[in-house]
Amino acid sequence: MKPIIAPSVLASDFANLQSEVEMLNESQADWLHIDIMDGRFVPNISFGFPVLQAIQRHAKKPLDVHLMIVEPELYIEQFRDAGAEIISVHLEACNHLHRTIQQIKATGAKAGIAINPHTSVQLLDDVIADVDLVCVMSVNPGFGGQKFIENTYRKIEALKNLIISRNSNALIEIDGGVNQQNAPLLLEKGADALVAGSFVFNSADPLQTIANLKNQA
Ligand code: DX5
Ligand code: ZN
Repeated sequence: MKPIIAPSVLASDFANLQSEVEMLNESQADWLHIDIMDGRFVPNISFGFPVLQAIQRHAKKPLDVHLMIVEPELYIEQFRDAGAEIISVHLEACNHLHRTIQQIKATGAKAGIAINPHTSVQLLDDVIADVDLVCVMSVNPGFGGQKFIENTYRKIEALKNLIISRNSNALIEIDGGVNQQNAPLLLEKGADALVAGSFVFNSADPLQTIANLKNQA
């Protein structure tokens, strides 16, 4: 099975957003990964609804929206209206995670949970059967272009075991510092989806870089 490839638009050229999205439309990417940062949950601010709507106008692929914001429950419906097909909230940002997962599903979107590098996958035990995706952060969220954290491999193994033991259909997505070097082992450990920002957009040929990630052995 080929991996799902989700280039992170955060690393694209915002002054040429339309052509960047059109490039992704033509590529072998499966999803467009959209990083929303509020300057509170993470020490950075990315972009909000007007930009997301502009992306949606041109995108021909599902928008995988990663909310790095406090109180995400206040904005779920608005993100769905702005075109999100997958909405991931951070476990660390939700006091009522189970309720927020149901809220996402009620909009018709797929529900994901993102976890920081310090968060044990065991904390997902009681919700894993309810979610469509777990986004395992392999860097501390807030910025593109950071170094991959090696402990992620262990977490994927533990998460895979949890998913199987709970009969869950959740996909495992890896986000942060993904490149051609670490991708094979990530997939071997059980990753289903790879997010890649700077590795794709800083490469000489993003179309080819996406194709290489998609078609590795
Ligand atoms: C980090 C974001 C990532 C980021 C990945 O907070 O969640 O999605 O865009 O960028 P790279 O691939 O450059 O680490
Ligand atoms: Zn992300």
